[in-house]
Amino acid sequence: VRTIRIGLLGCGTVGGGFVRLLERNRSLIRQRAEAELEITRILVRDLEKRRDGIDRSLLTVRAEDVVRNGVDIVVELIGGTEPARSYIREALATRKHVITANKAVLAHAGRDLLELAAIHRVRLGFEASVCGAIPVVRVIRDGLAGNRVRSITAIVNGTCNYILNRMGESGAQFDDALREAQAKGLAEADATLDIDGEDAAQKITILARLAFGSLETRWLRREGIRQVTPEDHLRAASQGSVVRQVVSAREHDGTIELEVGPRLLPLQHPLARVRGEGNGVILQTDAAGELVLYGAGAGSLPSASSVLADLVEIARAL
Ligand SMILES: NC(=O)c1ccc[n+]([C@@H]2O[C@H](COP(=O)([O-])OP(=O)(O)OC[C@H]3O[C@@H](n4cnc5c(N)ncnc54)[C@H](OP(=O)(O)O)[C@@H]3O)[C@@H](O)[C@H]2O)c1
Repeated sequence: VRTIRIGLLGCGTVGGGFVRLLERNRSLIRQRAEAELEITRILVRDLEKRRDGIDRSLLTVRAEDVVRNGVDIVVELIGGTEPARSYIREALATRKHVITANKAVLAHAGRDLLELAAIHRVRLGFEASVCGAIPVVRVIRDGLAGNRVRSITAIVNGTCNYILNRMGESGAQFDDALREAQAKGLAEADATLDIDGEDAAQKITILARLAFGSLETRWLRREGIRQVTPEDHLRAASQGSVVRQVVSAREHDGTIELEVGPRLLPLQHPLARVRGEGNGVILQTDAAGELVLYGAGAGSLPSASSVLADLVEIARAL
């Protein structure tokens, strides 16, 4: 069996889950990838931190040990725009395939990075960057390759969905529902990117580019959920609706129109069924009709599942 060497950047929630999942399903993954997948080095910031189930001898704080060290595939699970973007660029430029879960980097520099990957004839996998475990990138890119996508309507931020669900169910104030999400580990201490809609904006940008190509984008609306009150939920309930943070994208007159913000959804709307920190996506297409996908939008193993999907696909092709 061939051995494919993987350099891992980051070993936090998703990185740690990735290492554990690769270990847990090792023989299945070996069969499917038709190769042995071996993690050769793991970049972290803090060598002393406790990391259950991680071979400490693989840890390093030097990125060059991971990116330059004769690896075939680099998996970037650090997050943020820098230094992640530079590491991805360096890996692609030295002809390594790259897999990333980093929506921030993709929303800001995705086009450049895809171009760089094409120039060097390597792959850039990003299934885990949008909607955690839901394989929506594959559905749009492969499953719907013969279709024209008419629109995407989705719940892509689990933190906001949890907060709005809690407010609707219990009458909680926004701040209390946010604190609850933080106590459950669903929201960062600084949840600004989630509740102000930036995270959702990044994700719908990535999906829209996949579905509609490189047209200009135009924001029709870009709002967070801070201003949603318990009274808004009561009013929605009296109309048989719920309030949810919804993103959408459609092509109109040669531009991609994007929206992010709180929206009223009738209870029978497919996205009104997305509970807690889940995600959901509705795709309207010309041939396949309507497709609805639901699943875990984040979390260690759900996100690792999507990283592994890219890894097995790339490994098979090597
Ligand atoms: N969490 C989720 O559920 C989820 C879901 C889908 C996608 N994502 C995306 O996945 C990526 C990783 O998220 P995460 O939640 O796993 O983050 P995390 O738990 O904060 O882990 C980040 C890891 O990267 C390392 N790191 C951070 N900055 C570094 C630097 N400058 N140099 C070297 N190492 C650095 C950290 O090292 P230390 O361990 O030493 O601190 C840590 O191991 C992000 O792009 C995120 O948007 C996350």
